[in-house]
Amino acid sequence: MAGMLDSKTVLVTGGGNGIGRAASLAMAREGARVAVADFEAEAAAATVGLINAGGGQAISLNGDVTRAADIAAMIESTVASFGRLDAAFNNAGIAPHQVKSIQQRTHEWADEPFDRMIEVNLKSVWLCMKHELPRMLSGGGGAIVNTASIAGLIGLRSATAYVAAKHGVIGLTKAAALEYAVDGIRVNAVCPGFIETRMTKLAVSLRGDQIKARTPMGRLGTPEEIAEMVVWLCSDRASYVTGVAYAVDGGMTAS
Ligand code: NAI
Repeated sequence: MAGMLDSKTVLVTGGGNGIGRAASLAMAREGARVAVADFEAEAAAATVGLINAGGGQAISLNGDVTRAADIAAMIESTVASFGRLDAAFNNAGIAPHQVKSIQQRTHEWADEPFDRMIEVNLKSVWLCMKHELPRMLSGGGGAIVNTASIAGLIGLRSATAYVAAKHGVIGLTKAAALEYAVDGIRVNAVCPGFIETRMTKLAVSLRGDQIKARTPMGRLGTPEEIAEMVVWLCSDRASYVTGVAYAVDGGMTAS
């Protein structure tokens, strides 16, 4: 049976862990050649090892998505290895606790963690698109999926910079979708709810029951459940879909 991403080359940022790893594996299973990028080089290599062990084609790339030169190099290496860039999953990101902001209200955030959060979770998405779009324009089209969050759709307490960054990701997604629709480039966002990755371990240990009680399905999601949406959005089956932010959240934002 034909794969949904046969003959496509995809770049995944943050592909070393969690959602990025699950998406990389799902894309490879659907026939894509996958460039797995992460600033944790060993993690990216481990994802590639899993893809290769399953008979897929992948390369690992090491770089920081906050650095334009690293992003340019990732795209160069992808094109050098696989000849083109058809899709990109701009997914690398961090949680408030990774900038040492835990349980802080808006007025308690310090400048430095706020700026870092915006740099990693928002500006990097724009930087990635800035470098991906010219390749897709010269290649005749493409598909971009940006990882936002339910925090891009609703407010969450103790996460002010994260919420601002993820709302910004949806704004970037919609603006780019309008600009490049005529060029055959679709730009969408995925908005995961609470997903079982290392990122949510702390939140789950602090208030796991509360999170489950607030989720109509009564459980956290898996990275694989996000990957399904990402594969579809990157595929030609989503050919008329652009500028949309899809929640994959067990029903959390329905209420
Ligand atoms: P994770 O921590 O398992 O994976 C994130 C990956 O991004 C890691 O491999 C990390 O090394 C990489 N990364 C972080 N900063 C980077 C940088 N500057 N340059 C290159 N790579 C970098 O986390 P998870 O949960 O898989 O998160 C992936 C995305 O999903 C993030 O954007 C996150 O905000 C978003 N998200 C996650 C949710 C969850 O419940 N886990 C919910 C909603 C959104």
